[in-house]
Amino acid sequence: MHNASTYVMASTSTPAHNALPPAQPAAGRSSRIAPHSHIKGLGLNSEGYAVSDTSGFIGQTNAREACGVIVDLIKSRKFSGRALLLVGAPATGKTALALGISHELGTKVPFCPIVGSEVYSSEVKKTEVLAETFRRAIGLRIKETKEVFEGEVTELTPTESENPLSGYGKTIAHVIVGLKSVKGTKQLRSDPNIYESILKEKIVVGDVIYIERNTGAVKLAARQRVGRSDAYASSYDLESETYVPLPKGDVHKRKELVQDVTLGDLDAANARPQGGQDIMSVMGSLVKSGRTEVTEKLRREVNKVVKGYVDQGVAEVVPGVVFIDEVHMLDIECFTYLNALLESPMAPTVILATNRGNSLVRGTTDIVAPHGVPVDLLDRCLIVKTASYTREEIAKVVQLRATVEGLKLGAGVLERLAEEGERGSLRYALQLPTPASILASLAGRTQIEVEDIGEMNELFLDARRSADIITSSA
Ligand SMILES: Nc1ncnc2c1ncn2[C@@H]1O[C@H](COP(=O)(O)OP(=O)(O)OP(=O)(O)O)[C@@H](O)[C@H]1O
Ligand SMILES: [Mg+2]
Repeated sequence: MHNASTYVMASTSTPAHNALPPAQPAAGRSSRIAPHSHIKGLGLNSEGYAVSDTSGFIGQTNAREACGVIVDLIKSRKFSGRALLLVGAPATGKTALALGISHELGTKVPFCPIVGSEVYSSEVKKTEVLAETFRRAIGLRIKETKEVFEGEVTELTPTESENPLSGYGKTIAHVIVGLKSVKGTKQLRSDPNIYESILKEKIVVGDVIYIERNTGAVKLAARQRVGRSDAYASSYDLESETYVPLPKGDVHKRKELVQDVTLGDLDAANARPQGGQDIMSVMGSLVKSGRTEVTEKLRREVNKVVKGYVDQGVAEVVPGVVFIDEVHMLDIECFTYLNALLESPMAPTVILATNRGNSLVRGTTDIVAPHGVPVDLLDRCLIVKTASYTREEIAKVVQLRATVEGLKLGAGVLERLAEEGERGSLRYALQLPTPASILASLAGRTQIEVEDIGEMNELFLDARRSADIITSSA
């Protein structure tokens, strides 16, 4: 059933890399607000200095500027194979900084976040998890000129015929697709596979699409939704849709297509090949049914093919970022492997984060190292320390979160929360407003007052008070 000509372009259906979903709450619907949704970037000016209060980042000037330098290095592709280590007390914004870096890099640069403990799987070797993550962080931008049919859909008519096998029911024999461009219109008679893809992509009349025509074959291949045509912009009230002008030129033309894939995608696709010779058909099998191991041999093969494409100028390598949070959870075997990965010719930039001071390196019984990271790896890292927050900074972050979460704070509440934050942690202060708003609404208010916070403190403990109670009762 599957052949090379029926694959849907990967770039439309899957954002091949960048595991972080873009933080865009659907319009008009209140959606859950993630802890870091207020972070929009690092908030640096063009000289690389931290500008206060922009992009949701408060204070932490040094660390932000340091991360800005790293962003520049990554963009100029001079930081591959190197590592940045973020260290600092809990809730000082290490994870937020890493996310800020990813925002600054944009969606075109692969960013693969994992947490140290993710490497422990009962099915896959831990080094394999690391290797795969590293491969997913190397992007490839492929430019291909392909023969396509591009235009606004003017007609979509499936033609049914009697099912020749059963006698009951009908099957789609072919589908008539009408396409319109500035220069003309074209009616394509295509086979049922295309109709399936059209249904899957929810293409309707008025969409601008292109259908890739496979060389040689009369069939039509991958298609992509470019957006909704201008002509419909006024008649439909769909804010979320994007509108594009009617495509220029003929319906049938040659078009340069740019796609972003990662080495990890290519490995995975090749581990279960489904036919097809060109690099894009390899992309068709992105959906993996289970985690199977990709062998080193296969990776070398993929590298060879990729190198060929790079040499021909068809593809361009875009080194991305691997972010390993809570890196102290890795064990000595992983650390050793990490050293080797960093030195491989196709290595992404690595960002590590941890809140540990001196601690035992996991997997050993006697090696105590700073941050729980062996010294030989530390030696390969640039280290950035995050500072603790002042009361004013805590107040600003709390205010920011309250705005994002749509909570109103009464007089004195912010000061009170900042105080709590200073005594407990920033995270504790950030946690209080939402439940306090429930107390406020029970009392028939829309605004959180100081007494709600007081009541919260009676109901809930922060980490330190809880620990104190344990020690005093022991
Ligand atoms: N400078 C800042 N500006 C705005 N928000 C911040 C800032 N620092 C931290 N936050 C917010 O505070 C919360 C805690 O920060 P984060 O999770 O980054 O801490 P962390 O250093 O990673 O802590 P841990 O070591 O426990 O993982 C998050 O919601 C984060 O978005
Ligand atoms: Mg963190």
